[in-house]
Amino acid sequence: MKSIVVANWKMNPQTMRDAKSLFEATRKAAESAKNVSIVIAPPSIFLRELATAYKGKKLAFAAQNAHFQKDGAYTGEISMHQVKDSKASAVIIGHAERRAMGETNEETRAKVNAALAQKLVPIFCVGEHKRSGSGEHFLFVKEQLRAGLQDVVPANISKLLVAYEPVWAIGASEAMSPRQMHEMAIFIRKSLVGMHGEKGLKAKILYGGSIDETNAREMVTEGDVQGLLIGRASTDVQRFPILIKTLA
Ligand code: PGA
Repeated sequence: MKSIVVANWKMNPQTMRDAKSLFEATRKAAESAKNVSIVIAPPSIFLRELATAYKGKKLAFAAQNAHFQKDGAYTGEISMHQVKDSKASAVIIGHAERRAMGETNEETRAKVNAALAQKLVPIFCVGEHKRSGSGEHFLFVKEQLRAGLQDVVPANISKLLVAYEPVWAIGASEAMSPRQMHEMAIFIRKSLVGMHGEKGLKAKILYGGSIDETNAREMVTEGDVQGLLIGRASTDVQRFPILIKTLA
């Protein structure tokens, strides 16, 4: 089965020139990797130039965030329509770093709806801050799913990607174990079936948080996920191609 890899560049690299080199390295890795499809999420200021210059089929592009309003007085924001017009096909919504800057569950709901209205794939991120023995993290994730996806009609559930990213594993030294991910993937599917009926089984689930070339393959083969959302390792021109190779 094909794995989906979302390369979340975050606020990197610092110049268009470096963005082009990183893009080139990613493109080469993508083109020799049969079973992997890569979605690059560059800073939005690089998005259009990279996406319009690329003529191949192996790569897709995503924005890291966009506003839910159609247009108007929202200084510093970009709209879903603008994302679509820049030739991106997806948008990350509810990333832990955006939530930490104040994005609410209610906003994620509006953004998911706005993205789907533009025929963009929402890459909808959920994940708890911490875990304790009592399993509260399951309820936390369930509430994020409910809040963000409540308006999505069952027929659209298979169009989105749910990225489970436990906040404690993002930018950390270690990823979550594939076994724990497996358990969470079952829980997420069960929650989606509860909300959207059988179509919930079709949602694609990604894992994110401290994935690199040493643990990517294991997470995909044992974690019951259809792909990965990768931060740091996706901006490393040496390591990212190796990571992709381990998946292909
Ligand atoms: P990381 O980030 O791979 O650097 O841990 C993942 C993410 O935040 O998407």
